[in-house]
Amino acid sequence: MSAATDMLELVVASVTSLTPAIKAFVLRSANGEPLPPFAPGAHLGVQVMQANGHAGQRAYSLARPHGAADCYEIAVLHEPQGAGGSAWMHDVREGAVLTSHAPRNDFALHRGDVAPLLVAGGIGITPLLCMARALAAEGQAFEFVYATRSEEATAYLHEVRALGGTMVHDGGDPSRGIDLRALLAAPAAGRHLHVCGPRGLVQAVVDTARELGWPGDHVHFELFAGALEQTGDKAFEVRTLRSGRTLTVRPEQSLLDVLIAAGLDPLYDCRQGDCGVCAVDVAEGVPDHRDHNLSPREKAGGKTLCTCVSRAKTPVLVLDI
Ligand code: FES
Repeated sequence: MSAATDMLELVVASVTSLTPAIKAFVLRSANGEPLPPFAPGAHLGVQVMQANGHAGQRAYSLARPHGAADCYEIAVLHEPQGAGGSAWMHDVREGAVLTSHAPRNDFALHRGDVAPLLVAGGIGITPLLCMARALAAEGQAFEFVYATRSEEATAYLHEVRALGGTMVHDGGDPSRGIDLRALLAAPAAGRHLHVCGPRGLVQAVVDTARELGWPGDHVHFELFAGALEQTGDKAFEVRTLRSGRTLTVRPEQSLLDVLIAAGLDPLYDCRQGDCGVCAVDVAEGVPDHRDHNLSPREKAGGKTLCTCVSRAKTPVLVLDI
């Protein structure tokens, strides 16, 4: 690892098809040095090439706890409607060398006094599988629920079953998915809920948990990388009032990343629409709110937006920054 940048060179030790659309990659240190340790919930930021020829970075959660094998395991869902990063990853073969930042953790496991609840949807299984494996290795109790479209589309099916997880296949119909009101009916002091998956599932779990009285600091979530980009996203222009800049946000970019790249030094923390640290004032234009932080009234007012996840419904947004 470069001390200056925390970047790693990782050689692909194996590639395994878990489902027709999901591949697992086992990665080892390319220079033979020990890999940096990490806690369950951590992710790598792998550099990929996108269909438009621009380099990009994709966050992939680590599926296996740090251990004696000294390797990392990630799983990648091929998203045909995405910007091309996942397609590029699916063409990666054994022996290739990938560049990634060292593991970072925005989705830490909270053990608490009562068995934690782990809820996964689709490719969001990876960080929760890592948590479940770690808890099982420690002999700790946990409850684990995993929703996918069908058994054929389920990555890590046998691993989840072996860990005592409950599978739910909804056939693509969310109304046949996890019974969230039953699952979340009994919040308890010291019991932590962790959820990762598509935006719709995460939103439903977080909303239901809040409605049923789970304390906010006991509800932890992460959107899988592809959930940040939605089919049909278009480029839009951003003008900054105080710094006088005009910037373009491409479909595969976040507004926050564009502000950072322009050297505007924006504030941020969670990067997934949860904390509100990145909120800025909107002077003109209509935001497309995608955060979980602003209230319905604030969203309807349209005067504030979270730059890490939200976009624009109008071709131009003018921000008071
Ligand atoms: S950085 Fe947390 S909501 Fe944007």
